[in-house]
Amino acid sequence: MRAEVLALLACRPGGLYVDGTVGGGGHAAAILEASSPGGRLIGLDQDPEAIARAARVLEPFGDRVQLVQENFARLAEVLAERGVAAVDGIVLDLGISLDQLESSGRGFSFRREEPLDMRMDPRGETTAADLLARLGEEELADLFHGYGEERHARRIARAIVRERPRRPLRTTADLVRLLFAATPGGRHGRIHPATRVFMALRIAVNRELERLEAFLDRVPGLLRPGGRVCILAFHSLEDRIVKQRFRTLAGRREAPGPLAILTRRPLRPQPEEIAANPLARSARLRAAARV
Ligand SMILES: C[S@@+](CC[C@H](N)C(=O)[O-])C[C@H]1O[C@@H](n2cnc3c(N)ncnc32)[C@H](O)[C@@H]1O
Repeated sequence: MRAEVLALLACRPGGLYVDGTVGGGGHAAAILEASSPGGRLIGLDQDPEAIARAARVLEPFGDRVQLVQENFARLAEVLAERGVAAVDGIVLDLGISLDQLESSGRGFSFRREEPLDMRMDPRGETTAADLLARLGEEELADLFHGYGEERHARRIARAIVRERPRRPLRTTADLVRLLFAATPGGRHGRIHPATRVFMALRIAVNRELERLEAFLDRVPGLLRPGGRVCILAFHSLEDRIVKQRFRTLAGRREAPGPLAILTRRPLRPQPEEIAANPLARSARLRAAARV
């Protein structure tokens, strides 16, 4: 949804922008082109491999770009350390990249046999294997239900706690085997039985929702008047948080807040984009402006 993001950011030449999830640098390059001449971009990603990739892709923009391996929940600190009070626009393209899914070797995909790590930031303390080894049955069930909306959360949690003393869950394949054995229906459902459990673990390992909330709480103070924030969410839990925080920050007609919502309903990808990139299927884009 790059065109939609660019339209909502309304980049101007010489502006200062933040890409909080720089990933492979695609959005960042488009923002730098749209803010040419003289526009600058600070790109954050918590994954050092993404930062290395983005550095190669964005090299042609020279010193118009600064890249930082950091969580966007700490954007205020990153800007303060650089003497920046506020910026013209911020974009977040949440979740996981295709590179992380397919070639990080960190166990994000249930279609590959890899260690159950799932940390986007290798400095993080907890891996997916740690959670599966350590959490109690109730906590596991709450995690699969709360973050994955998994129907069989309780049954899966029970199977994990029963099996793990004999056979610890070390790899994605260990977990997939257990999920097939523990859930009725096996391969016949519409989505792979591991989809929701893998998503829930990834959200928990990276504390994705807490970090998004921490970012949103501070975002009005990071934007110049008229500055814009655009957020692409990929599942309903994320989108709900963005929608609710934007509403709270927009206030009411008689008591307006610091943000004005630009997207009354979230924008969705065109069918052609979904056909070209199935990961885009669940994307929802919301934007707001600092008043
Ligand atoms: C969907 S990809 C972004 C793709 C990017 N927009 C592009 O055009 O190539 C998401 C990226 O955000 C990063 N990420 C996710 N949550 C983050 C967070 N809380 N802080 C920093 N980076 C994060 C991931 O490591 C991943 O590289």
